[in-house]
Amino acid sequence: MNSKKVSDTWERGSPYELYVGRWSRQVAPSFLSWLGIPAGRRWLDVGCGTGALCAAIVDRCAPASVAGVEPSEGFLKTAKENLAGRAAFHQGSATAIPLGDASVDVVVSGLVLNFVPDPRAALAEMMRVMDKGGTIAAYVWDYAGKMELMRFFWDAAVELDPDAAKMDEGIRFPLCRPEALEKLFTGAGLKDVAVKSIDILTPFRNFDEYWAPFLGGQGPAPAYAMSLNETARARLRDRIRERLPIESDGSISLTARAWAARATVAQ
Ligand SMILES: C[S@@+](CC[C@H](N)C(=O)[O-])C[C@H]1O[C@@H](n2cnc3c(N)ncnc32)[C@H](O)[C@@H]1O
Repeated sequence: MNSKKVSDTWERGSPYELYVGRWSRQVAPSFLSWLGIPAGRRWLDVGCGTGALCAAIVDRCAPASVAGVEPSEGFLKTAKENLAGRAAFHQGSATAIPLGDASVDVVVSGLVLNFVPDPRAALAEMMRVMDKGGTIAAYVWDYAGKMELMRFFWDAAVELDPDAAKMDEGIRFPLCRPEALEKLFTGAGLKDVAVKSIDILTPFRNFDEYWAPFLGGQGPAPAYAMSLNETARARLRDRIRERLPIESDGSISLTARAWAARATVAQ
């Protein structure tokens, strides 16, 4: 039993990239095509992490500018290295964005809103920095459903230790369901709210490739795995291996679903 409080842990960019950053990079292009924002706009990425979404904006949207705001110093360092001057990065949070009023045209946020203690305050702050008629959009994982690489992890963790349910992102984050996301956006007074799912494939050549990113300790599930002693961690690893749909060649083919929401700010 692991009754310690485990923090979410966003510190080191490289292990985060291996765990989730690489999958966020695959959601980002579909998300951006869905937004259909014309060229020449000023973009802000809130909770930009290691820069997955910023990079896709730079590559695909011909922006006038891209700014990223992120609380973690370690992630900001990786984002700066990854984007090499193509975006401006600032330390800050979703509820205290260090930019002026009406200074951007599009605010996006990937896999962040559920981690913000007050998501309504975050939307209000995003609306403050947004020029009239702009777009606000975000995506979050479908933790309770088709974010399968994490679902297999938490289902096994809770089977072995019911106390792990407190950290299970499917339980912790009711916001990560389409109805709740839509309600958050509508309740903020935003217009033209739309929500849709974006599915990507998360293939692994073998079990070790699936498991190794959990040992990097970045994000709730890896932080939980690394809070266990070696025996408990090995038991968890073995239980997940029993449950995963492993093909005869050792490969594992899973789906990751994100829920995306978009809306416009009234003129
Ligand atoms: C799952 S990562 C997503 C990072 C990046 N957007 C991506 O798609 O790869 C969650 C991010 O939310 C950031 N975060 C956590 N709390 C936050 C807050 N209150 N305001 C802004 N960002 C926050 C973390 O530091 C981390 O970078």
